[in-house]
Amino acid sequence: MKTLTAAGITRDAIARISKSKNRRLKQIVRALTNHLHDFAREVKLTPEEWWAGIQFLTAVGHRTDEKRQEFILLSDTLGLSAIVDLMASRQPQANATDSSLLGPFFREGAPRFPIDGDISHGAAGDKLIVAGRVLNTDGEPIADALIDTWQSSADGIYDLQQVDSDEMNFRGRLRTGADGRFRFRSVKPCSYPVPSDGPVGKMLRALARHPYRPAHIHFRIAAPGYRTLTTALYIAGDRYLDSDVVFGAKKSLVINYRRSPNGAAAAIEFDFVLNSKESRKKGKRG
Ligand code: BEZ
Ligand code: FE
Repeated sequence: MKTLTAAGITRDAIARISKSKNRRLKQIVRALTNHLHDFAREVKLTPEEWWAGIQFLTAVGHRTDEKRQEFILLSDTLGLSAIVDLMASRQPQANATDSSLLGPFFREGAPRFPIDGDISHGAAGDKLIVAGRVLNTDGEPIADALIDTWQSSADGIYDLQQVDSDEMNFRGRLRTGADGRFRFRSVKPCSYPVPSDGPVGKMLRALARHPYRPAHIHFRIAAPGYRTLTTALYIAGDRYLDSDVVFGAKKSLVINYRRSPNGAAAAIEFDFVLNSKESRKKGKRG
């Protein structure tokens, strides 16, 4: 029988998956095993620390249900989701709009709004007009694109976080016109803490990290023949832009408030540029 050594266990664990026919799975598990074992050796992980880690992951599992995904929140706050998103969304065309995290507050089936509809249903807050166009990478308008938009209330709460109501608010679906234009009304979003009353919140506090995302408005834009774009616009000047707890804010998506034409509200205007499905294959820099 072989003498057990740390390096020998790593070699054995990797050798034991050699018969699997799934090459990608093997590649992933081999790298994961290597990194996990190296990590334990590097920090000289003690049995007590290993057990604390097991208890933490168990608590993350127990806090996860249909309404709350604590594992995704863990991935988000460790920066893993942002890395995966960045790699997946490398733009085939350099002028296409950057993506940003979907996050846990997207809901299918949001109510439809006509042009100038108010997705906040008159809620309290500073009035905001959001307008822009959906374009292709040649700068041509995309008509009839389907836009899903969702955001926090003026005090930083999403409708999904209202425990006493299932009603949808601060979200809607719109279609672009023949000129690719859309426009809707809302209130200014606010920076807000990600859910912090579970094990991930405890982890952030233990690491002296704040739980805030900078103020933003989410968009998911779909049109036949184009890659669906999941992104968000971030408000210039927000104090958390450089320390977004989930590493989601990108410079190209930061936008300033202006005054609306009649001066009655703040306004933001942004043109979203979609990649065609074709451009994925050609891949300029992907
Ligand atoms: C959000 O922007 O809605 C979000 C993204 C990741 C984690 C938590 C919230
Ligand atoms: Fe958000």
